[in-house]
Amino acid sequence: MPDWLLVPQAIWLMLPAYVSNMSPVVVGGGRPIDGGRLWKDGRPILGPGKTWRGLLGGSLAGGLTGLVLHATAHSGPLSPLLLSSFGSAPHAFGLGLALGAGALVGDSVKSFFKRRKGLERGAKWPIADQLDFVAGAWVFAVVADYGWFVSEFTWPMLVFVALFTPAAHLAVNVVGYWLGLKKVPW
Ligand code: CTP
Ligand code: MG
Repeated sequence: MPDWLLVPQAIWLMLPAYVSNMSPVVVGGGRPIDGGRLWKDGRPILGPGKTWRGLLGGSLAGGLTGLVLHATAHSGPLSPLLLSSFGSAPHAFGLGLALGAGALVGDSVKSFFKRRKGLERGAKWPIADQLDFVAGAWVFAVVADYGWFVSEFTWPMLVFVALFTPAAHLAVNVVGYWLGLKKVPW
């Protein structure tokens, strides 16, 4: 198998996390997870940018992405890329949900520390802003199905994802900003 195939394979495996991480700008809003409460330091616990709708809607979007990947991996024009398997439909939904929920929990944990650093909602925190959701998605996927995780993600794929994601994240956010979906281009 040629080495370059790790690129489409790694992106494929991360798609539920990528979709879930992007979806709150569309499905989010409403009641904040922290209910507007403040931490001991007088700053918001997570801030108004972390909402229940974003967390739950985004996690569901991850699960649905898993189902779509399950249905398309081994058929049609993408099949020569030997795309990795998410297993049966329920397994694919569960893994997508885990990757998606992990991505958004990772994002919220990052926001907690961002607020503790005194950074306002939407302020830039390079690297943390781009890899928070990757770390969260991986932790949740390992907990959900360790055997699947270690059989699908090789070390070179993990390294590729860690390097590729910040660049892709920046590109997507610039487009989101142009479209008026995001308030800031990061
Ligand atoms: N969002 C949401 N619920 C979440 C995560 C995100 O509703 N759990 C929405 C919010 O409208 C948020 C937007 O998606 O403003 C962009 O998400 P993100 O960049 O993660 O949040 P920031 O506003 O930048 O907040 P922070 O500084 O805490 O990262
Ligand atoms: Mg942000």
